[in-house]
Amino acid sequence: MQTKIPVGILGATGVVGQRFVQMLEHHPWFEVAWLAASDRSEGKPYGEAARWRMKSAIPQHVAEMTISSAQPQGAPKVIFAALDASIATEMEPRFAEAGCAVITNSSALRMKSDVPLVIPEVNPDHIKLIETQSWRAKSGGFVVTNPNCSAIGLVVALAPLQHSFGIETVMAVTMQAVSGAGYPGVASLDILGNVIPYVAKEEEKMEEETRKLLGTLNGSGIVPANFAMSAQCNRVAVEDGHTESVSIKLKKKATADEIIAAWQKFSGVPQELKLPSAPDQAIRYVTANDRPQPRFDVEFGNGMTTTVGRLRPCGVLDWKFTVLSHNTIRGAAGTALLNAELLKVKGYLN
Ligand SMILES: NC(=O)c1ccc[n+]([C@@H]2O[C@H](COP(=O)([O-])OP(=O)(O)OC[C@H]3O[C@@H](n4cnc5c(N)ncnc54)[C@H](OP(=O)(O)O)[C@@H]3O)[C@@H](O)[C@H]2O)c1
Repeated sequence: MQTKIPVGILGATGVVGQRFVQMLEHHPWFEVAWLAASDRSEGKPYGEAARWRMKSAIPQHVAEMTISSAQPQGAPKVIFAALDASIATEMEPRFAEAGCAVITNSSALRMKSDVPLVIPEVNPDHIKLIETQSWRAKSGGFVVTNPNCSAIGLVVALAPLQHSFGIETVMAVTMQAVSGAGYPGVASLDILGNVIPYVAKEEEKMEEETRKLLGTLNGSGIVPANFAMSAQCNRVAVEDGHTESVSIKLKKKATADEIIAAWQKFSGVPQELKLPSAPDQAIRYVTANDRPQPRFDVEFGNGMTTTVGRLRPCGVLDWKFTVLSHNTIRGAAGTALLNAELLKVKGYLN
């Protein structure tokens, strides 16, 4: 029997950390060997420190594990990180410096020129940037990031359009779930029966990350995709799933059938290599007028499929449509896990 690779989770008690614990429970290649969080949780059993918010039961052996200090000493060499950016800025380089492969959800290092920002179906070649990192040269450690939870769904939907027709302009308006704000997140008195037309730093992240993800690797850097983009971000009273209303102008004119065909045949390295966390369908196009909806569509493909619907002509740009993506699975832990699987098959976790 093949031995599994021991992995650690930094920020293991939070919303994304818990999603990692859940998704790693039956993983064929990785097993949870180390958990860390703040000093409020350190030394406690995970089952006591984490306010478990997942719908499946907490894995018993993980519940009994003791939360370690968030230091690289004693940590495994593969680390999934789910820390707030303010903490990650200082902590992730420390783990990479100590020789760890840091696979992170935080925005802290995403836009750094030598740090790959990756969605494995979209830009798997960008992981080569690892070779330019000073941590890699010194200790073998490195940092790989996945995008903001709103950028992920949007970019999965845009990637086949950029590839087939070229994109000139994108306008996206989000309706983002409360779980995107972590736990306890937004106070119930602020969000119930309400829409908050502001998610801190989200619009900027969507705009710059989308261009980096759809950009091209040029030697030791990424040349960002060259299109105009505007994002508007709102928080709504939905538990899981970010919905986005998107309008686009394409460089080459395309019919609705051509666009839908581009979405339906879209697949990438994770599907070709049958990576364990890859959904069979990266994108599902739904035809009902009132779909996608978070309540009915967010779990499709175990939360890893991006659902697109309502493609119709736009009176200002060319086309408009709706995108739905699970923010803590595809938008966070699931894409990080897929990145780790990609790194493993490319030999970066040896
Ligand atoms: N939620 C989403 O949908 C989503 C999606 C994509 C990306 N992200 C990003 O993922 C990261 C985590 O988000 P989240 O929603 O899981 O946040 P969260 O629920 O607030 O969890 C934060 C985690 O960080 C730990 N922590 C806090 N201070 C620490 C310190 N000084 N040292 C070590 N650990 C510390 C917390 O531990 P304690 O329990 O001990 O306080 C907790 O485990 C953020 O960067 C976020 O932007 C989130």
